[in-house]
Amino acid sequence: MCGIVGYVGKKEAVPILLQGLESLEYRGYDSSGLAYFDEAQKKIDCFKGAGPVSCLKSQLAGIHHSGCIGIAHTRWATHGAPTQENAHPHLDNKGYFAIVHNGIIENYKLLKQDLEKRGYQFKSQTDTETAVHLWHAKNEHADAIRESFRQAILHMEGQFAFVGMGLDEPDRLFVFRRSNPLLIGLGRGENFVASDATAFLPYTNRVIYLGDDELAEVFKDHVRIYNLKSGRLIHKKSVHIDWSQEQAQKGNAPHFMFKEIHEQPEVLKKTLKQRIKNTQIIWNELRPKDLDKLKQIERILAVSCGTAYHACLASKYMFDACTGIPVSVDVSSEFRYSEQQLTRKDMVLLVSQSGETADTLAALNEAKRQGVFTLAIVNVRGSSLAREADAVIYTHAGPEIGVASTKAYTAQLMVLALLAIYLGIIRNKISKKDASAFLAQARKLPKYCLQIIQKKSAAVKSYAESLKDKPNFIYLGRGINFPTALEGALKFKEITYTHAHGYAAGEMKHGPIALIDDQLVVICIAPQSKTYEKMMNNIEEISARKGIVFSIGTEDDQRLIAKSRFFVGIPRILEIFSPILTVIPLQLLAYYVAVAKGNEVDKPRNLAKSVTVE
Ligand code: G6P
Repeated sequence: MCGIVGYVGKKEAVPILLQGLESLEYRGYDSSGLAYFDEAQKKIDCFKGAGPVSCLKSQLAGIHHSGCIGIAHTRWATHGAPTQENAHPHLDNKGYFAIVHNGIIENYKLLKQDLEKRGYQFKSQTDTETAVHLWHAKNEHADAIRESFRQAILHMEGQFAFVGMGLDEPDRLFVFRRSNPLLIGLGRGENFVASDATAFLPYTNRVIYLGDDELAEVFKDHVRIYNLKSGRLIHKKSVHIDWSQEQAQKGNAPHFMFKEIHEQPEVLKKTLKQRIKNTQIIWNELRPKDLDKLKQIERILAVSCGTAYHACLASKYMFDACTGIPVSVDVSSEFRYSEQQLTRKDMVLLVSQSGETADTLAALNEAKRQGVFTLAIVNVRGSSLAREADAVIYTHAGPEIGVASTKAYTAQLMVLALLAIYLGIIRNKISKKDASAFLAQARKLPKYCLQIIQKKSAAVKSYAESLKDKPNFIYLGRGINFPTALEGALKFKEITYTHAHGYAAGEMKHGPIALIDDQLVVICIAPQSKTYEKMMNNIEEISARKGIVFSIGTEDDQRLIAKSRFFVGIPRILEIFSPILTVIPLQLLAYYVAVAKGNEVDKPRNLAKSVTVE
């Protein structure tokens, strides 16, 4: 989705803006642009175009830029095609103001009609252009640019974030946020604005998170924040974020996805270290009243999108095994419109890597509207979900840049498994002895995860090369590994652009079996567990129809090896943790097939890392 970068300081703005845009490329976009204050000519210069940031860079090459304040944008088209005219920034007809925008201005058509009547000429099909003309129109009667910016926003409906600059006050950026990510990075003698901290991590780790309906003036050495409605100054504290620049860079890895797959053992280790002290499970972020709530809840409604949804599906089996609390799982886009009646004894559990997914935020709002306790499991600190839920638990996976989620998923599974065990303990469903057995197994996960990556990658790579041209893949799993089948298939289609479908293995006879022939690859997730024999039956049926069996099973399972054309073994582990290991070979398979096909692994076509519009 769209990305925003703003800079004000002592350095040349253009290289910093371009670097910021490059670090936001992973979010997915189709055009890019920037504007800066040209000090020599005292005007706003704007460059933009369809295509990647590299095209923008070529446009700017050889041009001397003498400006220390600017704004930049990567656009993911919503209103109007990805063309140069529609790319941001947008300027008013006189070139006094420039603006970049994320989100949607819902009443833009009415505003546009009115502005056109007043003589404003529109050059694009975007809703954004309305904002900049409106800003100009409001400025005729305002005595400060900040006030005209505020007045313009008060007339717009919808969810959006803006960063703008005005020719008459070229020492500051004008910033606004509502339900779209935007944060301010505080440097020394320079400040930054971005939709994502990765854009300014090379310069600073100190940030101010803007809240909804907060407006800011960002100068090079200070920041003023105001409430939109009252226009009054408000005070906000800065916080330190523990992400490093290296974490957000590819280093020597061929792709971010490769790097992130390989970071999983460390992420699991860090999660366990933070969450387990001696034999206790600890939730530092939760207040005593949140812990009390956890004791009282009688139902969990887990809500999320994409990969996080698969983590929620797996969590149902974890909660079932450990707590006895009834759990229902929904994708956020269904939950938000489902008209489910919630009660005060329910807990809505929202899981998200970015904490900015529009549907999940809408689901949160629905839960809050019904007065239900909301707990978010989120990776990005200070994100909307983290700030707006009643309580938050962080996954500490570090920045995830590859669009196909890997380490965020295993971190979510780890936290969810620990949460299930914790709830089991406080509700006397799990004895002390069982709890320590669970935790002893959990501690083995980082080592086992590393073993799979180190010892199985070569085999998976060679399997991937021999399977790369197969047209269809079905992923089958049962019980807690049914969600693994869904996640494996999702990873595969996201980056290989090959049809892949995840299915509950027990449903195979109700449809997918019709597809089986000697070209169909069936990925069977069959570690030794209570459903093992059932999976073996599925495998017999697939083989009988000449399907290509690719199985993920317990290390050295000779029976399974004998029945499989391809086999990847994983260490034996307690069932509630098994999805954390079974998914690793599936991530590797998707990765190596995508590489063998020459696809853009980190930025797959049509996908965005963070889906901030419905
Ligand atoms: C997009 C991403 C997925 C992610 C999903 C949910 O589709 O490409 O990787 O799983 O959004 O995102 P969230 O940030 O809420 O986990």
